Amino acid sequence: MNGIWRFQDLLPKVSEIVSLNEGNTPLIRSKEFENLYFKFEGLNPTGSFKDRGMSVVVSLAKSNGIKKLIVASTGNTAASASAYAARAGMECIVVIPKGKVAKGKLFQTILHGANIMEIEGNFDEAIKYVINKIEKEREYYPINSFNPWRIEGQKTLSFELYEKLGSIDNVIVPVGNGGNISAIWKGFKELYELKIINNLPKMIGVQAEGASPIAETWEKGLEKPIFFEKPETIATAIRIGKPVNWQKALKAVRESGGIFIKVKDDEIIEAQKRLARHEGIGAEPASAAAYAAYLKLKEKDMINKYEKTIVVLTGHALKDPN
Ligand code: F0G
Repeated sequence: MNGIWRFQDLLPKVSEIVSLNEGNTPLIRSKEFENLYFKFEGLNPTGSFKDRGMSVVVSLAKSNGIKKLIVASTGNTAASASAYAARAGMECIVVIPKGKVAKGKLFQTILHGANIMEIEGNFDEAIKYVINKIEKEREYYPINSFNPWRIEGQKTLSFELYEKLGSIDNVIVPVGNGGNISAIWKGFKELYELKIINNLPKMIGVQAEGASPIAETWEKGLEKPIFFEKPETIATAIRIGKPVNWQKALKAVRESGGIFIKVKDDEIIEAQKRLARHEGIGAEPASAAAYAAYLKLKEKDMINKYEKTIVVLTGHALKDPN
């Protein structure tokens, strides 16, 4: 078995696998900083980490005879869902915020032949549309990250990190809806429960300042988030004001002894350039946010050079040429 399906024993059982050999992405050692590694998820089949979860959820849907999928997206989920639906021979509706999806992602979604539904407003309105639709029309199966099978696929990133590095101190993850950070944490916890590892990394969640409801909740020590009605950031992938998985994301960071941190748009762009020009890696803005957070934490001595640290680069630079 290739990619994530090597870890079949720790994945849900399916009768038919829908795969594009997702996973097995490169782990690249930093040239600039000691003990820093980039997990380059931009090299998945559709150019983002979403493919890991999409392979599992579409396999389950296919195995259970589902014919119609629906998903709201800021772009990467749309691109991934469209490709896996095409491979499975299933219909897929993608609901996206009009004018706010990066060019590369929109192109992929059109190319793979999904039914695109553009709505006025932001991602939060798109997800509301999906929830209304599935309540009325039961034949549509939702594959957003509130679907737990997505999380099952995405947790495989942790297994690959363990294979390459053994124990890890920090994992820095850009956060939108909060699905991925909780998936990565779940992966490590499973390894721990199986006694494969005996220490767990700290999870560091990163949000763009203009769309940072979870980071704000963290900083203010609140129990419930104050949602952002008008989220705004250059990192359109994580331009989300009402993250559906906020509870899981907070839990992952709390349990792991990690932190949430905010970064500004200009810090994101600086980090994107530095990554491209010093390390030779092209990542989209949302991914560069994680590197911006690393640079900030390093400068404040909140991460030192002895700590083995992973920056998860969630999507490829070509996704967002703007
Ligand atoms: N990085 C990229 C490149 C993303 O596309 C996303 C999410 C995230 C990070 C955050 O992951 O939502 O699990 O916390 N993109 C979703 C989408 C929302 O529709 O493509 P998260």
